[in-house]
Amino acid sequence: MPQHLSVMVVGSGAREHAISSAYEKSRHVGRIIVAPGNDFIGFKRQKEVLIEKGCSLKDPESILRIARKYKPDLIDVAQDNALERGTVDVLNKSGFQTFGPTRGSARIEWDKRWSREFMERHGIPQPEFSYFDKRRPAIRHVKGIYRRDPEFLLYTKATGLCSGKGALKSTNSREAIRNIKKMKMFPDGAGDVFLVEEGLRGEEFSYYAISDGSTYHPFKSAQDNKTVFDFDEGDQTGGMGAVSPAKVTDGISQQIEEEQIARAIEGMASEGIPYEGILYLGGIVVNGKPMNIEYNARWGDPECQAVLPSVETDYIDVIQACKEGKLSGIKIRQDGKTRVCVVGASRGYPGNYDNVKGKRVYGIERAMGMDGVRIFGAGIDVRDKKFYASGGRLFSVVAEGNDILEARQKAYSAIACISIEGNNLHYRTDIGWRDLRRFWNHN
Ligand code: GLY
Repeated sequence: MPQHLSVMVVGSGAREHAISSAYEKSRHVGRIIVAPGNDFIGFKRQKEVLIEKGCSLKDPESILRIARKYKPDLIDVAQDNALERGTVDVLNKSGFQTFGPTRGSARIEWDKRWSREFMERHGIPQPEFSYFDKRRPAIRHVKGIYRRDPEFLLYTKATGLCSGKGALKSTNSREAIRNIKKMKMFPDGAGDVFLVEEGLRGEEFSYYAISDGSTYHPFKSAQDNKTVFDFDEGDQTGGMGAVSPAKVTDGISQQIEEEQIARAIEGMASEGIPYEGILYLGGIVVNGKPMNIEYNARWGDPECQAVLPSVETDYIDVIQACKEGKLSGIKIRQDGKTRVCVVGASRGYPGNYDNVKGKRVYGIERAMGMDGVRIFGAGIDVRDKKFYASGGRLFSVVAEGNDILEARQKAYSAIACISIEGNNLHYRTDIGWRDLRRFWNHN
């Protein structure tokens, strides 16, 4: 492979920062462009990293314009809206070598009704579900459920993309009806069709595999923490922290791969939409059995920040093998470390955090300098080497250790260095608690 390839990463968050770091580690890569990115992704990099903000993830033509400007050797489309809008198809058609699923195969994420029916066709274990495009029959349906079982756990889910916030939980009829009414309020008609699903009780995990359409390789698993507050309380967010590997998958990896990963890859190929890209299974272990919560067509955020730094094999070799349909001939080495990722957010997120925008963020460089700690930026502006909050989720602190105890200690020591003007930094203090409990039970 030639030296000094250029790679463009499409996305704007801490996940794309982590992906750009995986390419930066490659001996073949000389230059990285991130579109639209964020300022912090370009801060203190070892290689040339350019941030091209002048594009929109919902507008493939704007991404194409950036691609035409830089002519990268590879474009990695990492973000869900960009995948849904067919960015991979547009770039492929214009002759760019692109990594990520086409709009047709990314449907496994952006159309959750289609995805559930796909799983049904291919015998993939999943919860009971119904779908609706009108409130009244949905309300009748949930009233019937709660008459039979007043404590039923139910999820009402928008079928379209909602930045991780489209699944609403209820445990009584009143909450379920309120959630049905919220569906039409999601932007871009994401909730015009919605699912009403049996909620499963168990421990959740995220599982990742790269596929070239016919074969796949798994990566380490992870566990996300979706709600805004400790003890899994508060509103759903894009993700407030992660641990990798997720020990809950120990002993059931083979079952996960056979029933949830291989069946999906084979099913997509058999339906004429072979899946090329990162396949993300959001799963839950119910009485020892892995069940499907959802598939996504990309790396998870914040899980990616905890998984990808473990990959020791040159990442571009992995992606090239995938592009050439030679994944079966490559081994993906990953280190044996545990990583904990804690997300720093603006106080108020995922609700209103307007008053935090533009406030100074202190202590980031100190945290970055700590042993075994990395910071991946999401909503951080950088001006004159000073940092300013510019979004909801602002950064991910990722720390590595030989076990959960060491990784967690480092992650929380690092984030303790950071603050936002006016005491406006919010983060969860319990990331990794389940694995810590497992650790102490075995030590
Ligand atoms: N970690 C949740 C997501 O990326 O959708």
